[in-house]
Amino acid sequence: MLNPKKPQNTLKIPKFRVYDIIIPMNASEIRQKYLDFQQKKGHKVIAPAPLVLENDPTTLFTGSGMQPLLRYLLGEKHPDGSRLTDSQPCLRLQDIEDVGDPRHTTVFEMLGNWSLGDYFKEEQIRNYFEFLTKEIGLAPEKIFVTCFIGNEKYGIPRDDEAAKIWQTVFREAGIDAKIAEIGSAENGDKRGLNPGERIFFYDDKENWWSRGGGIETTPIGDPCGPDSEVFYDFGEDKQDVEKYGKSHPASDGARFMEIGNQVFMQYRRNPDGSFSELEKKNVDFGGGLERLAAASMGSFDVFKISLMKPIIEKLESLSGKSYENNTDEMRIIADHLRGAYLLSAQGLTPSNKTQGYALRRLIRRAVLKALDLGIAQNFLRETISTIEKEYLSLPDSVLTSRESALEVLEKEEKAFRQTLNKGLRELKKMAKSVDRKRATTLSGYDIFKLQDTYGFPMEISVEEAYREGIELSSNWREEFEEALKQQRDRSKTASKGMFKGGLEDHGEMTTKYHTSTHLLLAALQKHISPDIVQKGSNITSDRLRFDFNLDHKMSAEELKTVENQVNEWISADLPVVFAEYDKEYAKNVLKAHGQFWEKYPETLKVYTIGDESAPVSREVCGGPHVEHTGVLGKFKIKKEESSSAGVRRIKAVLE
Ligand code: ALA
Repeated sequence: MLNPKKPQNTLKIPKFRVYDIIIPMNASEIRQKYLDFQQKKGHKVIAPAPLVLENDPTTLFTGSGMQPLLRYLLGEKHPDGSRLTDSQPCLRLQDIEDVGDPRHTTVFEMLGNWSLGDYFKEEQIRNYFEFLTKEIGLAPEKIFVTCFIGNEKYGIPRDDEAAKIWQTVFREAGIDAKIAEIGSAENGDKRGLNPGERIFFYDDKENWWSRGGGIETTPIGDPCGPDSEVFYDFGEDKQDVEKYGKSHPASDGARFMEIGNQVFMQYRRNPDGSFSELEKKNVDFGGGLERLAAASMGSFDVFKISLMKPIIEKLESLSGKSYENNTDEMRIIADHLRGAYLLSAQGLTPSNKTQGYALRRLIRRAVLKALDLGIAQNFLRETISTIEKEYLSLPDSVLTSRESALEVLEKEEKAFRQTLNKGLRELKKMAKSVDRKRATTLSGYDIFKLQDTYGFPMEISVEEAYREGIELSSNWREEFEEALKQQRDRSKTASKGMFKGGLEDHGEMTTKYHTSTHLLLAALQKHISPDIVQKGSNITSDRLRFDFNLDHKMSAEELKTVENQVNEWISADLPVVFAEYDKEYAKNVLKAHGQFWEKYPETLKVYTIGDESAPVSREVCGGPHVEHTGVLGKFKIKKEESSSAGVRRIKAVLE
């Protein structure tokens, strides 16, 4: 019998360290305290940006407080002056697999303050220390800090300035803070801390900030600089040390938790890879509200704070299970529901594309984890209602769709549960026929069929089989991969077959229609609806036929607009290029159009038409395509008709 593998979290906290907190700490209070404090220090409180940033093709979601302020950090004047502060809801999907440990979340609020060419290191460090110790009441001796060790290759000096300021600030609080050179995190795991050490120098993996991470991966044109991070010390734990090596601020263990990052944004990356000093030096401070709230209540578990506790309590009552024994599942659900709520309250709806797909994924993961807890009924609406009030202070300009949010989420939950139920019925049927044939196991091919035909995810098949006592073949994983590969080969052969046979010029024509199909889809998305996706395509050497989702018959005017757009792109003679990418990158960064993300291989081919930085079309596709659109001729739509419910069909020719 196969035991379904549980996801491994990077950070495991021994159970005995779960503190029992009785005083509920209000995170909203800390948020308010921070904004008031920064206002007192001359900052203007600005409205946070939406999670889905318009006009920013570089990321799917707002991932830090500085992101909406990028142009001001590069020198443009901000209408509200040179001292700004806010609390910015953020979403970092790249952390999704880490959720389940006590401190990782995909969604979080980043308390932020900025100096746009105004104050610099000293005022920032002093202010934040004052906030932590005087306003929140953290004990100074629990605070540890890190600074940048410098980088020879790029001529960036060690940040002795910040370290000295920290030393002074600690001395004023009666603490003799010693400085230690750690270098890399690995070195720290071996070396650990010596008595009295409180200020630590690390390399760019830890103490350099850019939107791309370390020095080498700083994006061209982006502002960046050394940073100084602030940590809270929860105390040494022996088991933790055995597992992760000696603890130090940047170690993987649970002793230290980062509660703020002060970026001294004084450089910009040049096209040749070097760094130049910005004319005006900025400070970009960001601190996770959830972590700060957790530190202030002495809990290293951020899921115990007021923004999440009501969800956890609700899950406990719905499942009849305790948080202490089901931390992973409950944390994942709490995190994902918060994310789903914030996204849908901002007007996003679940779909199969980019941000909408991310929302769908959050909802589905939450529903699946709820099933693990035995919550088989719809639960999103009543669970999320418990935290709605925590977001009342976010402006309506950001949460534009509070009213409809829960309904949208509930609808998606119901649809997903239906899919699951259908898949489950099929799984049981299959299991019965397995019995009849006296075969011993359910194979990876069966599991693939469930996923392929019924949309029943592989992971759930495995878990359900386990739950139902259905045995899986020992190499079901290989069988599953094999079925996936066979399907890929089949579709490759099918598309090859399409270009095979017949005269050479027939091959050329089908290639042209293939490229025209990409342009047609892009024109439909641009002028009719961004939600249009391909529902079917059939190409011969004489015409293209393209099916897509739309709930109305297209008017003559709409058809003309789309046709003109395609012809305009043809006249512009745009380049058509392809490259291979990692699936995640193609999907989340390039935002390539694709229909079957779940089924695509890890590396795939993406065709781009037009300027790489602002393409007309970007689609996952095996090709082949013409090299530039000028060769296509004149594009003409011949017919627009219904294909099936909610699906329209266009036939078009090249003349
Ligand atoms: N922008 C900095 C961060 O995200 C503050 O950590």
